[in-house]
Amino acid sequence: MSRSENIGDIYHSETKYYRDRTSGGRLIFPDISVFYKTYPNAEFVELPEPDLPQVKSIWDVIRNRRSIRQYSQDSISMNDLAILLWAIQGITAQRGDYSFRTSPSAGALYPIETYIMVKRVEGLDQGIYHYDIYKHRLDVIKKGDFGTELAHSALDQDMVDKSALTFVWTAVLARTKWKYRERAYRYIYMDAGHICQNAYLAGEALGLGCCAIGAFFDDEVNSVIGIDGKSEISVYLCAIGKKR
Ligand SMILES: Cc1cc2nc3c(=O)[nH]c(=O)nc-3n(C[C@H](O)[C@H](O)[C@H](O)COP(=O)(O)O)c2cc1C
Repeated sequence: MSRSENIGDIYHSETKYYRDRTSGGRLIFPDISVFYKTYPNAEFVELPEPDLPQVKSIWDVIRNRRSIRQYSQDSISMNDLAILLWAIQGITAQRGDYSFRTSPSAGALYPIETYIMVKRVEGLDQGIYHYDIYKHRLDVIKKGDFGTELAHSALDQDMVDKSALTFVWTAVLARTKWKYRERAYRYIYMDAGHICQNAYLAGEALGLGCCAIGAFFDDEVNSVIGIDGKSEISVYLCAIGKKR
């Protein structure tokens, strides 16, 4: 078997922790500004403060959550979008330099950024946006209908083009790698999983259908949202729309 055929096994084995060996060593804490991305020169759209509705119990939400791949043609509201963004990455506590969020993150390093391909959100032009977590607003990356292109990049999964919006979660690798070295990749994918589950649960509570998407052509998705695919990589997508 060639090295590339069992690269996953090698990775897993080489990044194990042992009692006498962890990924640590001398750690150099990076400038805190690397913990979130901003687009200072971009046009931006303010989001409403999330107005959280009374919903069924969390037990029902957990029980009823399903992956939904077909959506109505109705738009979702800005409040729904604001709630989804708050649920996946909202800041809920401040302790020193650390802003803790709704989703857990290894070492509180928060490597995941959220981009949104908007098709049908009331009051928002179609386009690609980036969520500015600290200012709770959207940076405009580019305007236009990118549904077909993003669906094509996700192995032609039509739900992307039919969704009201599709989240693209990327990872800024350095945020987690400075501390956990190569083991960081494990944690980055776990972080993305937590975020997506929060999207599923918030979506279910709001009557929206969601579907996680792990099948996509990496470089094509990177290109649609405009990231370099080296220091920042696409890791996970999630299509969302009103249930039919
Ligand atoms: C990591 C991951 C990747 C996934 N990728 C896709 C995908 O590319 N396309 C898709 O239709 N569903 C995808 N799914 C959804 C699963 O198919 C779905 O969770 C599974 O069938 C269980 O159904 P449920 O979510 O309704 O309980 C993915 C789920 C996970 C957790």
